[in-house]
Amino acid sequence: MTGSIVVLGTQWGDEGKGKIVDFLTERADMVVRFQGGHNAGHTLVTGDTTTVLHLVPSGILHESVQCVIGNGVVLSGEALIGEIDTLAKNGVDTTGRLHISESCPLIMPYHVALDQAREKAAGKAAIGTTGRGIGPAYEDKAARRSIRLHDLRDMPKCIEKLNAVLDFHNFVLQNYFDQKPLQPAAVAEDLHRWSERLLPMSSDASLLLHDALNSGKKVLFEGAQGALLDVDHGTYPFVTSSNTLAGAAATGSGCGPAAIDYVLGISKAYTTRVGAGPFPTELFDETGEFLGKRGNEFGATTGRKRRCGWFDVVAMKKATQLNSLTGMCLTKLDVMDGLDTIAICTAYELDGQKITTLPVSAEALDRCKPVYEEMPGWQESTAGLTRFSDLPAAAVSYIERLEKLLDVPIDMISTGPERSQNIVRKNPFD
Ligand code: IMP
Repeated sequence: MTGSIVVLGTQWGDEGKGKIVDFLTERADMVVRFQGGHNAGHTLVTGDTTTVLHLVPSGILHESVQCVIGNGVVLSGEALIGEIDTLAKNGVDTTGRLHISESCPLIMPYHVALDQAREKAAGKAAIGTTGRGIGPAYEDKAARRSIRLHDLRDMPKCIEKLNAVLDFHNFVLQNYFDQKPLQPAAVAEDLHRWSERLLPMSSDASLLLHDALNSGKKVLFEGAQGALLDVDHGTYPFVTSSNTLAGAAATGSGCGPAAIDYVLGISKAYTTRVGAGPFPTELFDETGEFLGKRGNEFGATTGRKRRCGWFDVVAMKKATQLNSLTGMCLTKLDVMDGLDTIAICTAYELDGQKITTLPVSAEALDRCKPVYEEMPGWQESTAGLTRFSDLPAAAVSYIERLEKLLDVPIDMISTGPERSQNIVRKNPFD
């Protein structure tokens, strides 16, 4: 039996992780977020209710589950408090169930201001960030000048620290980006508000995790964004600023890698990307429009239209290696219902050469032309199917072809946004 699993995205984010985490949480005792911040948007549909979570782990809708925001997450006090209050309004009480690592670096108003000013100044060269201050917050973490949640316990010292950091960032905002400086008193007010609301939930969350693991509890580590947005291995610089891979589940929560028994990679049956950066299989035709429309491909955090394209085996193979995937979950299969032909990218052509591995440089990847193999589509509806044997033959062939190309079993298939709309060939917790 599996004790702990990591669930993460293997493309450029938005693979439908939230729904799958919510589904698998039926079998979990604890759900842990380990990287990213409120740039993530995880959508959960239960009956008539749609819940979009950005920071709170997607296990929160299950009353008996403990939820942990690990040290690898950059924390927006404003966003988290807003989310907790919205959940409470919808009848979901987080009291005693939501735990925050006191090592979390805080996303401060100057991080947001810097993120937005920088993107604006970059013009056409912008990354297309979510504008949430994620990059600047991780920069401060690496530069060892973050204000972390535990700093709020000693407010006079914390304000001293704030004044020094703010001085530094205001200089950049004013002199480099021609922006107004932020006022120390206003930022200090934020810190007071956050300390009141968030300190009661904060602790050395790694200890909670150790206790859970040692007592044989089932733990689910919930990834955000996707493997191709990883700051080290993704399509740099068009990436987020954290490690989004399975290895980060350990460092971002405070356990060792041996605590992880199974890694589930989530991938759409096609590909999407939001923001700038190379995307070899992007479609600019009516099929791309069809996938975007049918798949409702608009960002859960920013509302931006997602770029759509065919499944990319070259990129996915990289993701399977980077994460030591045990199994995969293919989501949004039903979105492809009705296509006459489906293409799978199995190689790239780069400067006249055929290649089957992902180039490291984003410029080189941008020059890559996809090499496709084609398969017949299916006309029947797969929406809501829960049995593999009910799938149309062409859909089965597509899934089996992907399994063969990737050499990873597709253990789950999602056929709609509802919690119950899944084909489970093997539950990762079995
Ligand atoms: P940042 O994480 O806001 O700095 O944005 C960096 C890049 O990651 C941009 O291309 C964003 O669109 C992308 N990104 C960040 N979070 C997500 C997500 O949850 N889903 C999809 N893309 C994301």
